[in-house]
Amino acid sequence: MAKIIDGKAVSAQVKEQVRQETEQLRAEHGIEVGLAVVIVGDDPASRVYVNNKKKACEAVGFRSFEYALPAETTQEELLDLVDTLNKDEKVNGILVQLPVPKHIDDKAIIDAISPDKDVDAFHAKNVGGIMIGDYTFLPCTPAGVMELIDATGVEVSGKKCVVIGRSNIVGKPMAMLLLHRSGTVTICHSRTQDLASVTREADILVASVGRANFVTADMVKEGAVVIDVGINRLENGKLCGDVDFASVEPKAGWITPVPGGVGPMTIAMLMKNTLTAAKAQNGLLK
Ligand code: GUN
Repeated sequence: MAKIIDGKAVSAQVKEQVRQETEQLRAEHGIEVGLAVVIVGDDPASRVYVNNKKKACEAVGFRSFEYALPAETTQEELLDLVDTLNKDEKVNGILVQLPVPKHIDDKAIIDAISPDKDVDAFHAKNVGGIMIGDYTFLPCTPAGVMELIDATGVEVSGKKCVVIGRSNIVGKPMAMLLLHRSGTVTICHSRTQDLASVTREADILVASVGRANFVTADMVKEGAVVIDVGINRLENGKLCGDVDFASVEPKAGWITPVPGGVGPMTIAMLMKNTLTAAKAQNGLLK
């Protein structure tokens, strides 16, 4: 039986720390922290994520500025808004919820966000900084996964770490953060041959595939730390992860549930990054 890694509890600790520091910034320096969240179109999943981000801002004492734009918004209009937010001193962090509608080039939008306000850490300057270990922000989901691994007390150094998925948002930066901690890291993807033989070696297995119940017990080493980044909606409306929890849980040493695992951590780390951005912009980053 695996121990459950409680993302709700760990994220609550991170948010409480952010709330206290936000209060301190206000009391000692008169600084209000602000996050702008931009959503284009009416994708229901994106709407839920944006609402959750807004709630988290309220909980930690940030101002939140929401820009809900119609699906027909042009790339130029979105770039104009990003430019306005880059210049707005009340806005410390800017997040454009992805995916944006197909007629908008998401890379052009990410490139336009000031790297100092890029609290997703998606801008090429921030991604490059992560590669060389020189960064202000870490991307929210991989950073949240590291917090969850740390919560287990399992040491990453020297361990075999396998990441399934090679996206720019999760897989690639995840591998880099594990490498920074001296893990021996393998990235698997849709072309990987005999995937199960690779994943079975993992002391720490991170699944970010986007396919419901993809990781089954035969793919997992006895006692492994299993982190499930997936959020998939089944036909019956239920949420489930990339890991087949029912079969893997008896075999793993530690496992994250879905919901209540990585999801709440992503938002908590976004709050942490926004606070860091506000400190950096005011010359207060230690
Ligand atoms: N869409 C899904 N996850 C994310 C995220 O972490 N940041 C942004 N901007 N969009 C997303």
